[in-house]
Amino acid sequence: MAGTKLSVLVTGAGGFIGHHLVNRLVKDGFYVRGVDIKEPQYEATAAQEFELLDLRRWDNCLQATRGMQFVYNLAADMGGIGYISANHADISRNNSLINLHMIEASRINGVKKFLFSSSACVYAQYKQNIPDLTPLAEEDAHPADPERGYGWEKLYMEQICKYYQGDYGLQTYIVRFHNVYGPLGTYEGGREKAPAAVCRKVALASSGGEIEIWGDGKQTRSFMYVDDCVEGLLKLMASQYHEPLNLGTDELVTVDQLVDIVSAIANKNLKKRHDLSKPQGVRGRNSDNSRLRKVLEWEPKISLREGLSTTYPWIVSELTKQNRISPVALVA
Ligand SMILES: NC(=O)c1ccc[n+]([C@@H]2O[C@H](COP(=O)([O-])OP(=O)(O)OC[C@H]3O[C@@H](n4cnc5c(N)ncnc54)[C@H](O)[C@@H]3O)[C@@H](O)[C@H]2O)c1
Repeated sequence: MAGTKLSVLVTGAGGFIGHHLVNRLVKDGFYVRGVDIKEPQYEATAAQEFELLDLRRWDNCLQATRGMQFVYNLAADMGGIGYISANHADISRNNSLINLHMIEASRINGVKKFLFSSSACVYAQYKQNIPDLTPLAEEDAHPADPERGYGWEKLYMEQICKYYQGDYGLQTYIVRFHNVYGPLGTYEGGREKAPAAVCRKVALASSGGEIEIWGDGKQTRSFMYVDDCVEGLLKLMASQYHEPLNLGTDELVTVDQLVDIVSAIANKNLKKRHDLSKPQGVRGRNSDNSRLRKVLEWEPKISLREGLSTTYPWIVSELTKQNRISPVALVA
């Protein structure tokens, strides 16, 4: 029972960001219900309640939101660039069903605050065709030219949040994440994102060997460590700001530089083999944090080097548990 504590629902609580968010909310004294179609993969949830529900179904969304005051709606069919560029129909349908049902169920059940996790994939692609680009500010999502499938659905749902706020007074929050990474995130199987994939490849390679990089390695991105992501989510939910807001870092690196940072942490000397046939997404993408700094009086602080210094050892420990890396090789 929630008692006097604020009741918070986290959907996608079996996933990467949701799991970290649950840990933090419980630590901060909230009563947390986690919902997902799967249990967290790497450690047990800290949530006081955890329900396995498919949120594409309307009745399950009603069940998930009953008695809740705040909703962090993080559940989504998603993955890295390989996954989201190969599954437009499924991703669009699954995420539309989850989001439309979740916001309406939240309204019906009297939820006070509803947070929607949007993405940097909503930004117009024609503004991202050079590696050294001007960072993307919130207004750069229009005129619309988002990523196919995944990005279009996110942009549409942002609009739905504004309609619910306008027509029903539901307090909605729209956060645009820029590439979140850290321990306990998927690192293989097709849904992993670049930092985790690079950590895995570096961990499995022998020093002096070679690793495959998708694209020419000159495409640029910024990456945010998951602890900063969770901090930003809590700060946004405590604010009165209801327009879309970037949540990311503006530390821009090329994919080759990302590989070099991980190789240095691993103390390995590796050759890069660039595979131009693989999807690499937009040429360059960075977060303009001007509005974030103004609205939250804060911005993510953890550097890429610092964040990878905890992510890489975690992926190594997972691979070691599976006997895919010999502990002896790690000492070298
Ligand atoms: N990680 C990033 O870099 C990033 C970037 C931009 C946006 N986002 C958004 O942030 C949110 C969380 O992302 P994440 O990185 O934790 O991803 P994740 O894949 O680890 O977590 C998403 C969770 O949603 C669950 N889910 C999918 N379909 C479901 C369904 N039908 N019913 C119930 N649960 C379902 C999955 O099982 C998964 O555990 C997502 O909305 C994602 O689109 C993430």
